[in-house]
Amino acid sequence: MLGGTGSGHLTTPLLEVAGLVKHYRTGGLLARTGAVVKAVDGVSFTVAPGETLGLVGESGSGKTTVGRTVLRLELPTDGVVRFEGTDLASLAPGELRALRRRMQIVFQDPFASLNPRRTVGASVAEGIEIHRLAPKREIPQRVANLLEEVGLDGSYASKYPHEFSGGQRQRIGIARALAVEPRFIVCDEPVSALDVSVQAQVLNLLLDLRDHRGLAYLFIAHDLALVRQIAHRVAVMYLGTIVEIGTARTVIDSPRHPYTQALVSAVPEPDPAKATARIVLVGDPPSPAAPPPGCPFVTRCFHPMKDERCVAERPRLRPLDGRDVACHYAEVNAVGGR
Ligand SMILES: Nc1ncnc2c1ncn2[C@@H]1O[C@H](COP(=O)(O)OP(=O)(O)O)[C@@H](O)[C@H]1O
Ligand SMILES: [Mg+2]
Repeated sequence: MLGGTGSGHLTTPLLEVAGLVKHYRTGGLLARTGAVVKAVDGVSFTVAPGETLGLVGESGSGKTTVGRTVLRLELPTDGVVRFEGTDLASLAPGELRALRRRMQIVFQDPFASLNPRRTVGASVAEGIEIHRLAPKREIPQRVANLLEEVGLDGSYASKYPHEFSGGQRQRIGIARALAVEPRFIVCDEPVSALDVSVQAQVLNLLLDLRDHRGLAYLFIAHDLALVRQIAHRVAVMYLGTIVEIGTARTVIDSPRHPYTQALVSAVPEPDPAKATARIVLVGDPPSPAAPPPGCPFVTRCFHPMKDERCVAERPRLRPLDGRDVACHYAEVNAVGGR
């Protein structure tokens, strides 16, 4: 069974992230005055086999950094990432390479993610060759099968990336990720660079592949409406931290954190009976180089009970009404109701 809140699963997690921190030092190694950008500042979550966890939040909240540090494309400053029960930090480089095959990424920009000088076939075959997943003579057939699985013609293997549209390139990027038979894929805003008409097609492809192959996704998006279509659970990020996490239905239908409430209010609601007033957040989020010491959301919070405690004390994620939420006053709905 899928579900549960941020803590606790009925199934053993495929991915377990605990206290993940990624700080970037800016201004050069020798600069004493360089700032520390707290891109990710203590993030914990799990992903079960076959599950999709949506990671939402506005630009700069740390979503990509979470995805990259989970895959160890960047080294975390602190925290533990376990995949299939193994702490990635405990692995020798060769062991990490072998395990990486099981964890792939689909990038946001389909134009930057493929080598323009390699044929599509060579790009898709690369992982098969590196991990020796098939004898050489079988590789062309494998590549053709993968291209067909993502809705492209098998003969496209001999073409170059510039011959394809954005949507087709994203399909090639997906085929490339699938080639090594992963169990888990970080999808980093995989459709946000595509035309709206193409977005739904690529999203449906990801849904089909998930069901046929039993894939788990960390699905990163700034668009909550998109996440609602694909995620079993949702984690909402703000300024490097998770402010609310739970099943997609619970978090999106009855958000408890004021920031989530603002995000939800911005999603177009076709049913006028359910539509709520749009909450427009004032100002920009603070710089992750100087986050507020208390609640990260305090500078934009509109909760009627906001007080000195919010300024001074960082709220921890705690269970409430079937999800985990980080707000001192989450019992009181900031936008009316109870
Ligand atoms: N290599 C880096 N060096 C310094 N700051 C970085 C680096 N990568 C990301 N950041 C900063 O970390 C914060 C989070 O970035 P990112 O994870 O890309 O957010 P998102 O994907 O949610 O838009 C941003 O303020 C960004 O500028
Ligand atoms: Mg990003």
